[in-house]
Amino acid sequence: MNSGLLLNVRACNPAQTGLAVQEDAALAWRDGVISYFGPQSALPDACRVANPIDGGARLLTPALIDCHTHLVFAGNRADEFAARLRGVSYQEIALAGGGIMSSVRQTAAANVEQLIATAWPRACALAREGVATIEIKSGYGLSLTAERAMLQAATALGERTGLCVKRTYLALHALPPEVKDDTTKRAAWIASVCDQWLPALVQEGLVDAVDAFCEGIAFSPDEVRKLFNAARNLGVPVKLHADQLSNLGGGALAAEFVALSADHLEYLDQAGIAAMRMAGTIAVLLPAAFYCLKETKLPPIAELRAAGVAMAVASDCNPGTSPQFSLRLAMHQACTLFGFSIEEALCATTVHAAAALGLSDRGQLKAGLRADFALWPVTHPAELVYWLGDVPAALWVRGKAWVAPILPG
Ligand code: NIG
Ligand code: FE
Repeated sequence: MNSGLLLNVRACNPAQTGLAVQEDAALAWRDGVISYFGPQSALPDACRVANPIDGGARLLTPALIDCHTHLVFAGNRADEFAARLRGVSYQEIALAGGGIMSSVRQTAAANVEQLIATAWPRACALAREGVATIEIKSGYGLSLTAERAMLQAATALGERTGLCVKRTYLALHALPPEVKDDTTKRAAWIASVCDQWLPALVQEGLVDAVDAFCEGIAFSPDEVRKLFNAARNLGVPVKLHADQLSNLGGGALAAEFVALSADHLEYLDQAGIAAMRMAGTIAVLLPAAFYCLKETKLPPIAELRAAGVAMAVASDCNPGTSPQFSLRLAMHQACTLFGFSIEEALCATTVHAAAALGLSDRGQLKAGLRADFALWPVTHPAELVYWLGDVPAALWVRGKAWVAPILPG
């Protein structure tokens, strides 16, 4: 069951061979796992099947991985986009009760099925451009019930679309307005998150990782530390929105807890880079949010590169700072805005994106890994980053050809 063979492809396997294209390559899989990848001429007899697929000399790559999204939310914030165009800042909008709180109100008004339906086209748009694995964060709930609904919607989205969804409980994203400025209530709310909601959601099997937003307008390093200690006690890996709008030492904090990743990182300093390198924490860069917020402070890409910290890129798809459901566009932005090379951009959305999710079973074309791969109507791998707009991929997830399912309801 679920075995197959793809012949006559030109393959690019960024983690192993960069931008080099292997002509006349073949890929075989069994039970959703790659059993052979290499020259067609060396294909073992055991990998032959009755009806192999002719790849038509198209370009084969590992399926892409979007390792940081807020794909599940209701409504939108086009009004804030318009306000920002008039010069109002993201921080000003947040302090006036908009921003994340606006999405919290719209998301709270939706049930699980409505959340699935609104996220559906965004997930399918990613898949049409070759994305097989999508990380989805909660964080627009701010109550146990609403956070659970978001994580249930993310779970169902994976089950019903046939894509692989990894769920992150974004436990500390924003504070309910009624507790925000009252020290005692604020501490009590954070204690509920750490001591009650987190264990409950983990116990319900809804949490693959835990995340927080460490920032002046959000949570302090000490508040994040409480959450990360709670996650550590439960054996759940952590990730962090770190050093996006200011330097609070978020990169070093993430490294202190051996986080899978620290994300954004515009204000990351040298101490944070060194700590991340030591901990093996992946740097997830989010150029779409940088672009949408018209930021000017670049993340320290050259320093990360020099230190040997692995860099991933993700869409950060969210209704506020990155209303973008294209990972390829994020790769393009990583190159044009952050100075990534094409090769770095391809590794950033395959092998390094997998590592940012703690996954070593995908992101490369290699026997023993998941048969998640994409076939592209392009000649050179650089075109995957170069073209703006639709470059439709044929996608296989665990060896099954992915077909866009019908939008529910
Ligand atoms: O990743 N930084 C915080 N969280 C999101 C933005 C959320 C929002 O504005 O709705 C981000 O950029
Ligand atoms: Fe984010």
